[in-house]
Amino acid sequence: MLKVGIIGVGTVGASVANILEENKDIITARSGLEIVVTKGVVNNLSKDRGVNIPLSDNVDDILDDDEIDVVVELMGGVDEPFRVVKKALENKKAVVTANKALLAYHRYDLQELAQDLPFEYEASVAGGIPIINALRDGLSANHIESMQGIMNGTCNYMMTKMMNEGVSFDEILKESQELGYAEADPEFDIGGFDAAHKLLILASIAYGIDAKPDDILIEGIKEVRNEDIDFAKEFGYVIKLLGIAKKDGDKVELRVHSALIKKEDMIAKIDGVMNAISVVGDKVGETLYYGPGAGGDATASAVVANIIDIARAGKSSPMLGFDKPLESNLVLKSRDEIVSKYYLRINVKDKSGVLASVTKLFADFNISIDALLQRPTKDSMANLLLTTHETKEKNLQDVLLELEKFDFVDSKPVMIRIV
Ligand code: HSE
Repeated sequence: MLKVGIIGVGTVGASVANILEENKDIITARSGLEIVVTKGVVNNLSKDRGVNIPLSDNVDDILDDDEIDVVVELMGGVDEPFRVVKKALENKKAVVTANKALLAYHRYDLQELAQDLPFEYEASVAGGIPIINALRDGLSANHIESMQGIMNGTCNYMMTKMMNEGVSFDEILKESQELGYAEADPEFDIGGFDAAHKLLILASIAYGIDAKPDDILIEGIKEVRNEDIDFAKEFGYVIKLLGIAKKDGDKVELRVHSALIKKEDMIAKIDGVMNAISVVGDKVGETLYYGPGAGGDATASAVVANIIDIARAGKSSPMLGFDKPLESNLVLKSRDEIVSKYYLRINVKDKSGVLASVTKLFADFNISIDALLQRPTKDSMANLLLTTHETKEKNLQDVLLELEKFDFVDSKPVMIRIV
């Protein structure tokens, strides 16, 4: 059994505890160990956290507990978490953190302190997107030429709402705080610092560069107002907060600022709280990572993945992901049962009664036609082009067989599924 203590049972901490409980079957099968949260630490014990774990208001109850193997730090801030994580490492505990501010200032100190102890931080950058894993492992054969993207869900949510709904800056900031996307101090989000912390973490993995927030260009979205949005719209742009890292010869450029982006660009289409990061490697070319950058469950998903890795105790993940066979009732759905909408092109003789026979056939197989068009082709022939409402694959395949039997159907009908 792997015992976990969570320091900071807020939105993300509560989700970590609940995911470990709710998804226990799959987590145990993948990690090979039962993972149990034995303690959580909060500031205010009187507040209901919606979790089934014992709570305390003293971090040492976790740090000094010899039974606890993994400390999950979700406190926020820099100095106090640094002290806590340091002590956890001194007490030989593995650490998982989602704290990007801590890493932005102390990642090299922590690497030094951790030595061989596992220290994981997937959730610190882009919430649920496994970008650290991709950079550290999947792209490890590459020199990274650039990384660019949307690294702050709150700012992206705000910009999207301002663009699409004309909502004011202050109104939308309040809403994103209520939705739990924003940092405790929203200045971190709208001032660009949160994105900068994430960029610095990525830059260390990609370039081995030890820069601190004060060393790089950081601007936020605070100056952006509805008139800028209107201008951008009129001239075919959107405005987004971007984090940019670029290698230029023997220099690396790191910057965070709002930017006008042509609305056709892929990154311009990333809306709401979603994050997206494009990474260009010298060998692989451009790769793209997209997903929820904030929110309790999405961020906790990355924290739990780190805990599972630690449970595997340094072994690489099993070939197909499961350490033990999953006790599951899942069986393969037959292809006949697949449900879809369909498009058909049926080349027919253009004579009376054809349409009636075709539509009757669909009705006989209980398939509802959504749209229907007839286009003449040549020599008294026509294409019937139609789409269906949802139906089972079996019904559609049966209809195709029947269609081919009609003497007025000239060639095998063409079917494309609508997804
Ligand atoms: N406030 C952050 C964001 C949360 O909006 O992206 C995740 O780091």
